[in-house]
Amino acid sequence: MKKSPSSRNLTNPISKWFSDINWRFVILIIPLFSFIIFFSFHAPNLNALSSFSSVKNLLFDIPLQKVKNGLFINTVNNSPTKDELLRSKIAVCLVGGARRFELTGPSILDMILKEYPNSDLFLHSPLDKDSFKFSLLKFAPKVAAIKIFHPQPLPENESFVHVLTADNSPNGIQGLIQYFDLVEGCLTMIRSHQVKNNITYDWIIRTRVDGYWNGPLSPENFVPGKYLVPPGSSYGGLNDRFGVGDFKTSTIALSRLSLVPKLDSAGFTNLNSESAFKAQLTTQNVSYQTKRLPFCIVSDRKYDFPPARYGVPVAALSSPGPLSGTKCRPCRPACVGVCVENVMMWVEKGWSWTDWADGSLELCDAHGSWENGWEKIFDRVAGKKFANARKRIHNLKFNDCVRDFIQLKKLAAQWNAPPIEEICTLGLSHS
Ligand SMILES: *[C@@H]1O[C@H](CO)[C@@H](O)[C@H](O)[C@H]1NC(C)=O
Ligand SMILES: *[C@@H]1O[C@H](CO)[C@@H](O)[C@H](O)[C@H]1NC(C)=O
Ligand SMILES: *[C@@H]1O[C@H](CO)[C@@H](O)[C@H](O)[C@H]1NC(C)=O
Repeated sequence: MKKSPSSRNLTNPISKWFSDINWRFVILIIPLFSFIIFFSFHAPNLNALSSFSSVKNLLFDIPLQKVKNGLFINTVNNSPTKDELLRSKIAVCLVGGARRFELTGPSILDMILKEYPNSDLFLHSPLDKDSFKFSLLKFAPKVAAIKIFHPQPLPENESFVHVLTADNSPNGIQGLIQYFDLVEGCLTMIRSHQVKNNITYDWIIRTRVDGYWNGPLSPENFVPGKYLVPPGSSYGGLNDRFGVGDFKTSTIALSRLSLVPKLDSAGFTNLNSESAFKAQLTTQNVSYQTKRLPFCIVSDRKYDFPPARYGVPVAALSSPGPLSGTKCRPCRPACVGVCVENVMMWVEKGWSWTDWADGSLELCDAHGSWENGWEKIFDRVAGKKFANARKRIHNLKFNDCVRDFIQLKKLAAQWNAPPIEEICTLGLSHS
């Protein structure tokens, strides 16, 4: 049976270790280990000297963490520690329509915003009947800027028509331009906030409103000088459903509209969102890295089941994950275990394929609408806290919505949105 490379690697960690091990690093680490052994016998003395505690942390935490995380693999990773990240300036860019934000919002709050409570939230979203669901953001630790706008067609100039393809984009080239504008608009908001406050962000986390997170965003995803994206769902380019990078790499990664003319002069044509994203990074010499991430994109779209070679697998929201941005919905899984292997081995690797190693993936039969009773399925999978948030939005009244939005507006340093009554009226009847 064909297996994905990562599952093959994991089945034999010892041979992986011997093939991947960097022997120069081992020679380097032997003296460090002598130190650890020395200090583990003398630790009480060391603890007495509190001024030495940072030295102790340096010696203990770093090597031990590396041993634990899999036998010296990925050692050359100069990611900051959680403490360092908590002391740094982080912008979280949240883009897209509110759609099922009653399901995704609470997880974004918990797994990203509250995980890094020093981070500033930037929301960029088109107004629609679901926008009222953003009232949940009043629970965010810090809100820098909210921009909710009336969607309007954007001009399609020559560059876009040369470079982009309408294939597989639900709303053609216009849809792509709208999406690029949504992402780059968030960068514009961040820059304006930086100038107003005389600050520069160390990191920008770009994430989507429709992402459901079943685990926290961990510190090793912050890699200086590299742009980090999830593996899989790469559609001939790079998965563009999430990204994190320092300010420099993020500026290039988020400049999705303004770099299109550069791609044009470099001779690119027929690009979809993912291949344009990859071209954008490579032509600007930004190196990137992939790491599996614990989120999926909650979608109401219907897809054939089982997915064909270029079909789209839809994960059950209850999958253990990490799902790295695969499409998902709450369902009773139609396919688990060996069935997943049999289905996924036919799905094109460079297209809609996603990493299913370690039993991370369970599939829904998503050829129809969400099944009856999906609410119960969601509540059971997501747990009481997220279930309560879902019910809160389900039962929200117009007046509660207005009250919550007033609270959110007070939190936000920058506010650029239609009148609150308009946002609440679109989704809720007065009564
Ligand atoms: C902006 O910040 C820098 C460094 O923190 C400081 O030197 C400078 O005076 C500040 N400028 C203004 C206008 O506050
Ligand atoms: C096309 O639009 C982009 C972004 O709005 C702009 O940077 C570029 O100069 C435009 N190109 C032409 C030929 O109008
Ligand atoms: C990227 O690197 C190549 C080769 O080193 C160089 O020619 C090119 O000017 C660089 N491009 C940018 C945008 O820095």
